[in-house]
Amino acid sequence: MNADAGGGNIIPVVRPTLPELDGVAEALRRAWKSGIVTCGAEVAELERMAAEEAGTDHAVAFSSCTSALILSLQAMKLSGEVILPSFTFAATALAVVRNGLTPVFVDCEPDTFTVSPDAVKKAITKKTCAIMPVYVFGLPPDWDALAEVSRRTGVPIISDSAQGFGASYRGKPAGGFGRIECFSLSPTKVVTAIEGGMATTDDAEIASVLRRLRDYGKAADGEDMEHIGLSARPSEMHAAVGRLSMARTSELVARRRELMAEYRERLAGIPGVSFQTMPPGRETSGNYFVILVDPSKAARDRDSLYKELKARGIQTKRYFYPPVHRQTAYRAAGRAGGTLEVTETVSAKSLALPLYTHMDVQLIAEIADTVRRLLS
Ligand SMILES: Cc1ncc(COP(=O)(O)O)c(C=O)c1O
Repeated sequence: MNADAGGGNIIPVVRPTLPELDGVAEALRRAWKSGIVTCGAEVAELERMAAEEAGTDHAVAFSSCTSALILSLQAMKLSGEVILPSFTFAATALAVVRNGLTPVFVDCEPDTFTVSPDAVKKAITKKTCAIMPVYVFGLPPDWDALAEVSRRTGVPIISDSAQGFGASYRGKPAGGFGRIECFSLSPTKVVTAIEGGMATTDDAEIASVLRRLRDYGKAADGEDMEHIGLSARPSEMHAAVGRLSMARTSELVARRRELMAEYRERLAGIPGVSFQTMPPGRETSGNYFVILVDPSKAARDRDSLYKELKARGIQTKRYFYPPVHRQTAYRAAGRAGGTLEVTETVSAKSLALPLYTHMDVQLIAEIADTVRRLLS
């Protein structure tokens, strides 16, 4: 590729790394033969693997992470306010509002970009019914501090772990920290089912309610509707892709981390460019590689870099931008639970560079060179 060529060969910011088509076809042949094309053997196996990866007693698959989040909050039978970061993808807040709950947006940390446990602590009131941290770009939140807030206040944690499958915290895999953790298996994720979501939990009752909720809310007799759920079942086709992708979790994540290290090395020392801090013990899934561009030190600001890279055929993503509390649909949907200054600053500077598992190291070198040239 010629990063300066522009037009033609656009380098996408994300690309799914899909399993071999032959393996998928073989699984589909079995599903076709059995006539069970949704919630069958492939889904059961994907759930078994997810529970094993996450180290939880249960995993329940969904058609998306958004449906998993909506139904997880519903399964908790909550009412009141939910504390969540504004520096996240809008689906975190969507799930809150869809449940008739009020989002209370709090700030993120300036270096890790994950939710500030201090801000969470300060925002807790009698109305708080849940805390929703987010794995930002794949990095786990500060689980020790959040668990302490939850333990002291009795407020449960439902985690938006959409970007975090394959991440770990103090050697323990993502999935078992929140009361429920919800992962995405969409095409932009490291482990993908093309589309899909997964909720992990150690609570058998919640897992059983989630299974009913994803199937309209049907009772065990298959006739009565016990809950007002959703139609959010995963198909066998998606599960087959997910199973083959999930079987490679550690290899995919390791490769992502290698590619991110390559980016860091090649972008080191550019004035005004900094990276997400990965504190010891908090291992990212490597979902996104994001740089911060500080306009007071760099040769141009984030938006100008974004435009110039685009003109050279390099797609990047201002991410997360705008922060959720500034998005049209959410401006009036909730309230700020303190200052959102860090969120505003980080959101104005952050830029996700192209990253996908099967990416060539040479491509990273060329992208990094272009960034360096544009910022010199
Ligand atoms: C932080 C976060 N939450 C939720 C979602 C929603 O996931 P899905 O597309 O599987 O519904 C995403 C998807 O990108 C995400 O990044």
